[in-house]
Amino acid sequence: MEQGKKDETLTILDNRTGKKYEIPVTDGTIRAMDLRQIKVLDDDFGLMSYDPAFTNTASCVSHITYIDGDKGILRYRGYPIEQLAEESTYLETAYLILHGELPDERELAEWMWNITHHTMLHENIKKFIDGFHYDAHPMGMLISSVAALSTFYPEARQIHNTASRLKQTFRLIAKMPTLAAFAYRHMIGMPYAYPDNDLSYPGNLLNMLFKMTEVRYNPNPVLERAIDVLFILHADHEQNCSANAMRNVGSSLVDPYSAIAAAIAALYGPLHGGANEAVLRMLNEIGTIEHVPAFIKKVKAGEGRLMGFGHRVYKNYDPRAKIIKRLADEVFEVTGRNPLLDLALELERIALQDEYFVNRRLYPNVDFYSGLIYQAIGLPIDMFPVLFAIARTSGWIAQWEEMLQDPEQKIARPRQIYHGEEQRDYVPIDKRKYQPSESQAAER
Ligand code: CMC
Repeated sequence: MEQGKKDETLTILDNRTGKKYEIPVTDGTIRAMDLRQIKVLDDDFGLMSYDPAFTNTASCVSHITYIDGDKGILRYRGYPIEQLAEESTYLETAYLILHGELPDERELAEWMWNITHHTMLHENIKKFIDGFHYDAHPMGMLISSVAALSTFYPEARQIHNTASRLKQTFRLIAKMPTLAAFAYRHMIGMPYAYPDNDLSYPGNLLNMLFKMTEVRYNPNPVLERAIDVLFILHADHEQNCSANAMRNVGSSLVDPYSAIAAAIAALYGPLHGGANEAVLRMLNEIGTIEHVPAFIKKVKAGEGRLMGFGHRVYKNYDPRAKIIKRLADEVFEVTGRNPLLDLALELERIALQDEYFVNRRLYPNVDFYSGLIYQAIGLPIDMFPVLFAIARTSGWIAQWEEMLQDPEQKIARPRQIYHGEEQRDYVPIDKRKYQPSESQAAER
């Protein structure tokens, strides 16, 4: 990991004043607040940095997830994602992400017991979900129902109370699959299936999604493991849009249910967790392999994006995409091959050779293949980001905990550069000049 050498500094010469400043450099980073001493006049506000979309700004110091985007490395608490995907389970990984260390046997058993025994929802939540239209998007249902949980657990507002935070952590990780499954069952008009505490975390999710009239649902072990691995891969990804939303909203000291609702909303967008849904819609739209070159041509002409490709941080193959590609083969052995796989493989083959994608270092990301697996398991496209949200819950809580315990953090509040009007006087309505819009003028 890039650790800054001691006593490194940056000398800044302000050409406006001829003054020189020496600014400390730590971890290859200067502190934005160190720029504020740089002024032309004593009563100036001081120099700011402008960084729309935070492309070059660290907003926190974190110990959770490490990514080296050039080398395609992802580690949770130091453990390579490849090892966790091979050896661990989602619940064990969630423990690691939240606590910083792998649990011993007793700790893991206790953790699993606590998660398993918080999976039930208050019956009123069912009425709440019943109120949604039959074709409501399940992400909308998830955002609202998670936010609604804050009204059932008002003690969650005690965010500085460690025991209360832990209780909400159990509840959130445990109830998210139940909320997701209830949203799905509502969509398809099926009665809600209650949690089965004898099943594993992913096995129980499959039970709540797919149980029909059988007395006991027996999940297919290959699909159960596939969900577990997908959840491990999605558990955290450092300061992405939704983690930033979680920290940002959480910094107002709101309860974790409300902050998670905000994080899920951030995840919903097609540039983030909604990308797996967008990939499937794109593949359906392309339809056949013969249409791939024409589609690539359109993308290169700026008419749409190749969804599931590109990443702000990875400028190499997303390590999660590699694991998912292998996982897909195992799942397809059980479910039958998803016919869209050939289309995806052809898109990848062409894109990886095409100079447009090569020059911009655009590689398949985690979402390029995950949707194909979810579809093969039998889930509709709308549910893909919902599964992402279940998995990311542990990461969001870990990011929130870290933010709360960091003495340097305060309510998030960026600055702006104001380019609006100077002060002007209010004009009464009868004195305002009517200016028709271009289309109104054209109609006349
Ligand atoms: N297809 C075609 N062109 C692309 C794509 C793409 N998927 N992604 C980036 N580009 C081009 C973009 O047009 C720009 O070209 P130019 O320099 O000529 O203007 C250049 O590559 C840099 O793109 P950018 O938009 O400045 O990059 P970014 O870091 O802001 O965006 C991204 C990252 C993930 C939003 C973007 O790559 C994208 O929209 N990908 C498709 C959506 C997607 O798959 N999202 C899932 C991300 S992984 C899961 C997660 O963490 O949420």
